[in-house]
Amino acid sequence: MNDSCCYVRELHRGLAIKDGMEETKVVVLTGAGISAESGVRTFRDGDGLWEEHRIEDVATPQAWMADPVLVWRFYQARRRQLFDVKPNPAHEALANFAQKHSQFTLITQNVDDLHERAGNDATIHMHGRLRTLRCEQSERSEPRMDERDLGDEFLMCKCCATPQRLRPDIVWFGETPMRMDEIYSAVENCDLFIVVGSSGHVYPAAGLVNVANTAGAKTMLVNLEAPANADSFDEIHLGKAGEILPEVLGLLL
Ligand code: APR
Repeated sequence: MNDSCCYVRELHRGLAIKDGMEETKVVVLTGAGISAESGVRTFRDGDGLWEEHRIEDVATPQAWMADPVLVWRFYQARRRQLFDVKPNPAHEALANFAQKHSQFTLITQNVDDLHERAGNDATIHMHGRLRTLRCEQSERSEPRMDERDLGDEFLMCKCCATPQRLRPDIVWFGETPMRMDEIYSAVENCDLFIVVGSSGHVYPAAGLVNVANTAGAKTMLVNLEAPANADSFDEIHLGKAGEILPEVLGLLL
């Protein structure tokens, strides 16, 4: 690892885990930063805008009620963008780690499909997914990524007798993240909790490091810059996930 680009706290405590690595339960939580090197814009860039929109104008239930056309077109553009991006070395390193280490849970705040495309099919998407759409009536999700599903017109569901309007299958601000029971159970029982590419502003995701600390796990962060919850981590590696994560995970294996 290139120490000149990393602020490493308690590095040796981290690597001591190698002694019993096969038994070590590892949970990784990823955020927008892991997909930045693939060309997916993060949410909190310097200008405070997400793809030229304020987050509250496109990522809240109120926005969907007030201007569904704007919100729909915004997410359809994000869904089409999936074809323009591909997994980077950080996604690939996690897929490789998952193959070699059975005691592993991957949680992501990201709605892109880059973990799956790298080979991590069991990824838990706590903030939803772009590849699926959700029926407003039944709340069932359905995969809808055919070419005819990617235009700007609203789409209707396949689950109801009278087809209902579909909404993006995204957890917006003010909504409850998905699969939280599973997530808390994995974090409460892990030995090592690693966060990659997240600014630590959005809860409950940003609070999972505290759950891991309370459970006695070692906590580690890989991020471009110090996030809002930096003080909660045992060990911090500052830099690009695509450069640092393969090395960190390689050392663990
Ligand atoms: N490698 C590592 N970290 C990076 C990289 C990189 N190449 N590029 C950017 N980062 C870091 C940034 O420094 C920032 O701290 O990734 C972080 C991204 O932060 P956010 O854009 O706030 O993304 P995230 O924390 O995932 O946002 C959480 O907020 O808008 C909601 O639901 C949305 O899931 C999202 C949630």
